Amino acid sequence: MATILVTGGGRGLGRATAEKLAGAGHHVVLHARRAEAAEAAAAAIRAAHPDARVTPHAADLSSMASVRSLAAEVLAAHERLDAVLHIAGVMQQSAARRLTADGYEETLAVNALAPFLLTGLLMPALERAPAGRIVNVSSRRHLPGSHGAAVDLDLDDPMLEHGYQPDRAYKNSKLALLWVTYEQARRTSGRTVTANAVCPGFVPLTASDSAHGLTRLLMRTVLVRMPFAVSVGAATDSFAFMATDRSLDGVSGRFYGEQQPIESSPDAHDAARAARFWSLAEELTGFRWPA
Ligand SMILES: NC(=O)c1ccc[n+]([C@@H]2O[C@H](COP(=O)([O-])OP(=O)(O)OC[C@H]3O[C@@H](n4cnc5c(N)ncnc54)[C@H](OP(=O)(O)O)[C@@H]3O)[C@@H](O)[C@H]2O)c1
Repeated sequence: MATILVTGGGRGLGRATAEKLAGAGHHVVLHARRAEAAEAAAAAIRAAHPDARVTPHAADLSSMASVRSLAAEVLAAHERLDAVLHIAGVMQQSAARRLTADGYEETLAVNALAPFLLTGLLMPALERAPAGRIVNVSSRRHLPGSHGAAVDLDLDDPMLEHGYQPDRAYKNSKLALLWVTYEQARRTSGRTVTANAVCPGFVPLTASDSAHGLTRLLMRTVLVRMPFAVSVGAATDSFAFMATDRSLDGVSGRFYGEQQPIESSPDAHDAARAARFWSLAEELTGFRWPA
């Protein structure tokens, strides 16, 4: 059975995925923002599955120092990781741009810089597994034409000092995470570790947790019943598939939907911009991946 780090395991799809994987017999290294949330999730999973192996860890992924502490703690506690499943993510609701302790726009920090840094630091544990997997949770919302603000990641203004909109920040961060995924796949090519990205589809039930008022109500009552809505069960099946299914052995550099490869945007395949973002991520996180 595999040892799998699940970020965002305190609630939402991360919490449900952690339970699914632990219930199937895998050792889940469960991350949540706060220690109490990680411990409560681990205790609830153990109560439902008495044989479950769940080890809680906490870190605020908006802070690069906190990401570094998490990585050090995980490396000290777990010799090897078979998969790192980056489920934690943020979709801001307020029109006001939020900056992190490091001075970075929060959405980019949590959704792209934290997975970049955490994976980089955890590579020794992934390399100790026979076939370590990096699984980055991106979103089809990065595709051109997805509703709302246009995806528009200006690498001269990655923190959206100009033209900030929560939706744009989210889409930009998920595009950046695809760039990171494809570059990770390139850099791990010919080695045992693979890197892929996944979109769970639109899951109104968990997405509603970050929404307010009427939108929240609409998501929970109407949108959950729509044919395009994905259930929590189907979304967590997708994540479990990415982390454990043997048919993905050796598969790297792909974007998946419901257990099938899907297309990412032409922008996501722009190697020059991906390389620029990679350098920027190295600079902003202070972490240089081995070439
Ligand atoms: N639901 C959808 O329709 C949908 C569609 C496409 C992609 N996705 C992606 O799927 C992933 C999970 O979505 P979800 O619906 O489960 O979202 P969610 O219910 O909002 O859960 C988000 C998770 O991320 C954690 N998180 C946010 N900021 C954090 C921080 N600074 N430090 C540590 N943890 C932090 C949250 O922890 P706290 O409890 O501490 O806030 C929570 O566990 C996200 O990456 C999302 O972008 C979702």
